[in-house]
Amino acid sequence: MLVGLGHGTTAGFAIARIGELLRARTLNNIVGIPCSRITEAEARRSGIPTGILESHPEIDLTIDGADEVDPQLNMIKGGGGALLREKVVAEASKRCIYIIDESKLSPRVGTLRSVPVEVIPFAWKPVSRYLQSLGATSVVRREVVGRPFLTDEEKFILDCTFGALNDPGDLGGAVRRRAGVIEHGLFLGLATDVIVSGPSGLRHMTR
Ligand code: A5P
Repeated sequence: MLVGLGHGTTAGFAIARIGELLRARTLNNIVGIPCSRITEAEARRSGIPTGILESHPEIDLTIDGADEVDPQLNMIKGGGGALLREKVVAEASKRCIYIIDESKLSPRVGTLRSVPVEVIPFAWKPVSRYLQSLGATSVVRREVVGRPFLTDEEKFILDCTFGALNDPGDLGGAVRRRAGVIEHGLFLGLATDVIVSGPSGLRHMTR
């Protein structure tokens, strides 16, 4: 089975567990497709064989975390900066399961989180002005020491606060229309399942 391995603290638990099950031989014949360099290192540490999309372009199942999820399973992702590869892997997957806790549920995406937009460094300023014209307040994501955060593709991320989105599909289309934008963190129509943990146990949302 080809398994997309997401990026972030939640996906990290899934990766560690898959590693345990492989070692116990409860699982076998798994090849992981990591969504980031960090994930690749985690998979290696956990003993999960990894592959690349070039040789495995169709993935059976992806397991990942998310930053915000609405009742239609629209999501915001990219809090960890890996949104581009996460979206590429999700789009190549037959099934995508996202694991969150209840604090990440909202009535409309954009209520809790800003929308990360990955841009080429050359274009960040005009793209930022364009995103402002769409209604966003945007800031360049920075490392703790102040340098701009660089993605695995060595691009910048603009964190764009729009507020609760009435039409995330429309906004996503408008954001992508601008040269210099690589991708945005609105994941629409990609989640097949969302597992929500809370004080009363687990809830399974499906599309
Ligand atoms: C990474 O770019 C993100 O999309 C993560 O999947 C998301 O931020 C969830 O991360 P945590 O599981 O660390 O909350």
